[in-house]
Amino acid sequence: SSSLPSHRVDLASRTPPYKKLAHKLEEVRKILGPGRQLTLAEKILYSHLDNPEDSLLSNTNNGRDIRGNANLKLKPDRVAMQDASAQMALLQFMSCGLPSTAVPASIHCDHMIVGQKGEQADLPSSIAGNKEVFDFLESAAKKYGIEFWPPGAGIIHQTVLENYSAPGLMMLGTDSHTPNAGGLGAIAIGVGGADAVDALVDAPWELKAPKILGVELIGELSGWASPKDIILYLAGQLTVRGGTGYIIEYYGPGVQSLSCTGMATCCNMGAEVGATTSLFPFSPAHVPYLQATHRGPIAEAASKIASGPMAQNLLRADPEAAYDKVIRIDLSRLEPHINGPFTPDLSTPISKFKDIVEEKGWPKAFGAGLIGSCTNSSYQDMTRAEEVVKQASAAGLKPKADFFITPGSEQIRATLDRDQTLSTFSAAGGTVLSNACGPCIGMWDRKDAPPKGEANAIFTSYNRNFPGRNDGNRATMNFLASPELITAMVYSGSTTFNPATDSIDTPNGPFKFTPPKGSDLPSAGFAEGRPEFFATPGVPDPTVEVVVDPRSTRLALLEPFAPFPNSELNSLRVLYKVKGQCTTDTISAAGPWLKYKGHLPNISENTLIGAVNAQTGEVNVAYDVDGTKSGIPELAKRWKEKGQEWLVVAEHNYGEGSAREHAALQPRYLGGRIILAKSFARIHETNLKKQGIVPLTFANEADYDLFEACDEVATRGLLDVLRSGGKGEVDLVLKKKSGEEEVIKTKHTLSEDQCGFILAGSALNLLARKGKE
Ligand code: F3S
Repeated sequence: SSSLPSHRVDLASRTPPYKKLAHKLEEVRKILGPGRQLTLAEKILYSHLDNPEDSLLSNTNNGRDIRGNANLKLKPDRVAMQDASAQMALLQFMSCGLPSTAVPASIHCDHMIVGQKGEQADLPSSIAGNKEVFDFLESAAKKYGIEFWPPGAGIIHQTVLENYSAPGLMMLGTDSHTPNAGGLGAIAIGVGGADAVDALVDAPWELKAPKILGVELIGELSGWASPKDIILYLAGQLTVRGGTGYIIEYYGPGVQSLSCTGMATCCNMGAEVGATTSLFPFSPAHVPYLQATHRGPIAEAASKIASGPMAQNLLRADPEAAYDKVIRIDLSRLEPHINGPFTPDLSTPISKFKDIVEEKGWPKAFGAGLIGSCTNSSYQDMTRAEEVVKQASAAGLKPKADFFITPGSEQIRATLDRDQTLSTFSAAGGTVLSNACGPCIGMWDRKDAPPKGEANAIFTSYNRNFPGRNDGNRATMNFLASPELITAMVYSGSTTFNPATDSIDTPNGPFKFTPPKGSDLPSAGFAEGRPEFFATPGVPDPTVEVVVDPRSTRLALLEPFAPFPNSELNSLRVLYKVKGQCTTDTISAAGPWLKYKGHLPNISENTLIGAVNAQTGEVNVAYDVDGTKSGIPELAKRWKEKGQEWLVVAEHNYGEGSAREHAALQPRYLGGRIILAKSFARIHETNLKKQGIVPLTFANEADYDLFEACDEVATRGLLDVLRSGGKGEVDLVLKKKSGEEEVIKTKHTLSEDQCGFILAGSALNLLARKGKE
């Protein structure tokens, strides 16, 4: 089939290894004993275990309490990376010295592209502005056999759904909305680059077994209600923390009526409630979607499994499977919802929205409606919005707010172009942006922008609405809603408009919309799009040189960290004592720093700049031993030059917020050895160990008060703990300026593997060594 683009030909690497997984599932059932009922998420996860017996039986009361306790060591089937996070992932992968990735992988250039005037102008300028990064990513992709989707090809999650996701697959993605792929029945988890490297080098990837939250859907959506409203409603029920430690598993008769892309929207925004991931069972809509996206054989293989004997049924939950928690949603009674401002869990049914706007004094008018993005740019979403536009145009209406459309991929864009959906939008005054993240990640040069700090509203069909995310203005209220609802509201320009009940005045009298229907899939099939946006094939080519200019300010090859010394750490100093909250943003700020994600020395200039000095209350003000005052990164750099290694002392939940690995890499690069805190956020604690930093907690929290900046600290017992694979405890000898000494008891959670990371200098060093053996 030479007429097909390369990314369509290689179906083998896109088909989950069903035979192997079925065998593993049988093995798991044997280990857990007869009669044991499993949820769908458990089946997919456990059938991806490296060594099921080891993972399922230790620390689990002999397999009875796996969820929430077991330490799963998983072998994912594939990895996807977006352009911003792929840089550090690849730099780390490169330092392992392997000739190709161990599992199929893809790179998607989407985050670094602006949305302003439309693709024709925005794409070339974004490519020019980020050329060295794109060149680096492309050359590394070619060398190591990673499929490379160039700038403008599409947003990672839409492209993954169209090409890589499949029922029963397990994948990792270096982006928090990776769970979008769960709409097609996959377990897809968002991770940092170092975790992606585990999968890329075939090392088991560790995950504390999540609990399972069952969401039972009954009834059928009607009127203006859409799949987006399922998750908008659910976010209101669960709040932004309600899904933490859970996988959300949808089931029930209501699933049957949903489109594949609609299910993806629900899974995408599971990230907004903190869920590890979300997924749907294999369902009728999956077959035509897989066929339309040129993956008929995968649909066939999956159908066979789904209708086969339950013992090997990888694609449905066992009939009596129990959930840790259940929420039931009746789709027939679900109203459209609007979530926001400023947080995705502030959820209001549209029938109550007008009252809330009045009560809270939110703006009555809004400046822009933006539809599409990774969350909502399916054929169904866009054709429903198109019907709304057509109704309005026929009634002689024009948009009263700016109207932007972001297609999620070139395939969707080309199809909508062929089917004249895009020309309908443009003729009505809408602006079609590049197939990229654009305004969703703040790459938006907003033309109607009110002055910074002035309260104003926008409506988007995106997934996040934190202050400042879209236009850099923290006073902009971003209300999340379905694309069709936003499109209708654009014609009223009013935040209180409800198309189900309200009409708009026209010269010919009042006009009222009828709810749009749309089509799940294009009747003429998907268009292929322009060849310049096809992916390069995933075939490694060792002759390719990876392009990193040694003078670059944005990319720098990584030097391996030195191994742990053959001794205790005898002369550390306290660099800084942090007071209160210390998130990954505090440790490694985003915003303008994002452009240095591939340059560890440069991005390290932001290390801890958000941290409050516990002794003075100042932010990012540190004092050297002789009293010299400077920023924290400056002091750390000075100490690094002198070979003075250091520790940070902090309070509770150190490193909360995200999986951002830079928050662990940077302190390590600058000479950090220990973080001593009252408690840690779980993911960050793991990240620290991976980079060779020892996280310790106070055995007695009050000891926090004993520490001051520049105090000397020596470890006692650390070397033994590391050499014994985590046995025993670590004491710290705290030496004050006065000469006084005190022994501080600490606790640690180092596993045998993690001790290996620290001794080797980092997890990567260990992987590199194993690769060479
Ligand atoms: Fe991109 Fe926004 Fe999705 S940044 S990946 S479109 S959440």
